Amino acid sequence: MLPVILLSYITLSVAAPGCDPDKVAITGGEYRLTNGTHIGSRVEYTCPEGKYPHPAYSRECQSNGQWKNEKVRAECRVVQCPRPVQFEHGEFFSRKPRYFVGDVLQFECWAGFHMYGPENRTCQANGKWSGEETKCDNNVGDCPNPGIPIGGIKVGTSYQNGDTVTYECQRGLRMFGSKERTCMKNKHWSGAEPSCRFWYTYDTPPEVAQTFSASISEIIESSDPDKVEGLTDRRIKVRTDGLMNIVIVIDTSRSVGKRNFETAKEASIVFIEKMASFDFTPRYGVISYASFVKPIVRLSDEDSVDAEAVIRKIQTFQYSEHEGKMGTNTRGGLREVFYMLSLQSATDPKKFLETRNVILLMTDGKHNMGGNPTVEVKRIREILKITNNGNREDYLDVYVFGLGEDIHEEHINDIASKKNFEKHVFKMESVDHMKEAFYEMLDEVEVLQMCGLSKEPSTDEEGVEEMYPWIAKITITRPYSEERCKGSIVAKSFILTAAHCFHLDEELHHITVRVGDRPLKVKNLHRHDKYNPLGKQDKMVEKSFDYDVALLELQEKIQFYRLVRPICLPCTTGTSWALKQRGIAVTCSDHEKTLLSSELVRAMFVAEEKERQYERKDVFIKRGNKRLPCLDDTKKIEKFQAIPDIRDLITDNFLCTGGTEPEVDPQTCGGDTGGPLIVRFKQRYIQVGVISWGTINSCAGPVPALSRDFHTDLFQMLDWLKEKLTDLEFLNESYRQWSK
Ligand SMILES: *[C@@H]1O[C@H](CO)[C@@H](O)[C@H](O)[C@H]1NC(C)=O
Ligand SMILES: *[C@@H]1O[C@H](CO)[C@@H](O)[C@H](O)[C@H]1NC(C)=O
Repeated sequence: MLPVILLSYITLSVAAPGCDPDKVAITGGEYRLTNGTHIGSRVEYTCPEGKYPHPAYSRECQSNGQWKNEKVRAECRVVQCPRPVQFEHGEFFSRKPRYFVGDVLQFECWAGFHMYGPENRTCQANGKWSGEETKCDNNVGDCPNPGIPIGGIKVGTSYQNGDTVTYECQRGLRMFGSKERTCMKNKHWSGAEPSCRFWYTYDTPPEVAQTFSASISEIIESSDPDKVEGLTDRRIKVRTDGLMNIVIVIDTSRSVGKRNFETAKEASIVFIEKMASFDFTPRYGVISYASFVKPIVRLSDEDSVDAEAVIRKIQTFQYSEHEGKMGTNTRGGLREVFYMLSLQSATDPKKFLETRNVILLMTDGKHNMGGNPTVEVKRIREILKITNNGNREDYLDVYVFGLGEDIHEEHINDIASKKNFEKHVFKMESVDHMKEAFYEMLDEVEVLQMCGLSKEPSTDEEGVEEMYPWIAKITITRPYSEERCKGSIVAKSFILTAAHCFHLDEELHHITVRVGDRPLKVKNLHRHDKYNPLGKQDKMVEKSFDYDVALLELQEKIQFYRLVRPICLPCTTGTSWALKQRGIAVTCSDHEKTLLSSELVRAMFVAEEKERQYERKDVFIKRGNKRLPCLDDTKKIEKFQAIPDIRDLITDNFLCTGGTEPEVDPQTCGGDTGGPLIVRFKQRYIQVGVISWGTINSCAGPVPALSRDFHTDLFQMLDWLKEKLTDLEFLNESYRQWSK
């Protein structure tokens, strides 16, 4: 026995005070020590992709000279994805006790149920299933099937107004989102879709970039005025200063050392710069907190609307201001937000209630002092007059970024807002990842170019251009004539219009495009390859408008701003965002189902009534059986009677409007040609057709009953659009594949 005792005595005397270096290593991975094996040092583990460190991402050398949990040897284990327990109105394959990275789940709906979401989902390296929840629905409820997160169960199967469903995750999984959701009068579920995940699952920067920018852009753009009853004027007047508050609350308590603190500052700056690129000026507040709270920028500061001044203040804020006070007083941080808002409320109560509020909380630790932070969120809601029945919910968005492993999922989930189709809580590996996500968010916006936006003009003088910022005016000035057409901005250097606006041998210098107040020159005219006006004369079609679509490529790129913006085109990523159909599983057919959902589709075009005066005209697109009268009525018109098969004139490439059923549709007139036929979704505008031709030109008088207008159907032009518009991101699936 003696030598053993002696040995341990020696070990102790050499290693103390500190932890055993032999108990640091991890099987199958790597580690890094923050301060050797000294007390207070942490060992941080990394594993190859698809694995995670068990039992924890890191452990600390405790004051008793032992690594936390040191009896459990660290090893890299294989990542699993949650196992489905319940799937409603359908089946899933394959059924296994465990699912590993790369495994695929395939879903099937029972007869009579339609599938929403992806058919196949793949287990990803971070332990999440790809795509959104798959749901089977027969659409008999007031609300759609709310779905069941993989790894969770749902109680409640009736989806009528007032019904409630509750969720639970399987043992070992943690829930994000709402535990309970109610089917509301507006046919949406209250709260946010829940998800279940393992403790080791982090959101990746691209995932956060996508979901967070989708949510925040929702706030930035005009929101749906129908959403809240009794409030007619709740558009965001984003250009008038300070009608939005953005308060960034940074937890600097556990930010071990200066580096993380600096990164958190940089991330905030990236975020503010990104916001500035949206062409609006919110009022900023920036608060740093550890044990105590330190406002860096106050909402009441004179220069809190000046993004550059705000950034400067963040840059000069020093780490030393918090040093040594390392408690996590999240409640204190949020209380400071409450104080700032109270001050605003007292100064100008009316304006205060018109102001929207975004709180960004970044925390890397469990709150361990100051009390429960949700109390402050409640107080903030009260002062904003937000009630639990959903009223004024739009006026507050609390995003929480939980950084690192030392956070309590349930707590951050409690603090974050919960809204349908949106995500407000993120769990990320590190502050570096958050910064990366903010960077990527910038790129996303650049790619998407925020299509189909429009704002109500704030004053009468500002005119209606703002409402239709994607309209381009095209003038063709030939030696002895001048012709006018319309077009739509679809990308930075492309205007979409009708091919027949131009002669087949048109000289490019005859063409001028005007967007906003700028005349632009044309570099190239791309007509559809199949456009051939004289090509059907053997079928007695004197002039064929089939494939009547063209793109004007501009000599210089358009700078987008509030009066000049692109419209959305079908089957692009930008439109997926506009339609709130996010995730990789969204297809072109989802867009078509949403945009052209019935036999009568509400659509609009923009007519120029007088010089510079645009007027919106509402029409119905007739589809299916309702389209047949378009053909029949055209046959009755004298000049078309010689055509044996009217479908040679009116091919399937046209959308039809006009006529008197269910209402008298206004006609398109000469100068409208080439302009967009638009379907509006909430406050977003998606072009589905190009105004091409009408059967009877009677713009001066009343609309004759037989009159019909035809528009080139963009869903039929996708291959060509895809080929030409390489700047835009189109969805993968080609239309023809599924339309068969
Ligand atoms: C590392 O540990 C030693 C010994 O406990 C201590 O004196 C030193 O301050 C620590 N360094 C840091 C950066 O924490
Ligand atoms: C889903 O997976 C099955 C089996 O691998 C495959 O046949 C099917 O085409 C996939 N569906 C989609 C939409 O990718």
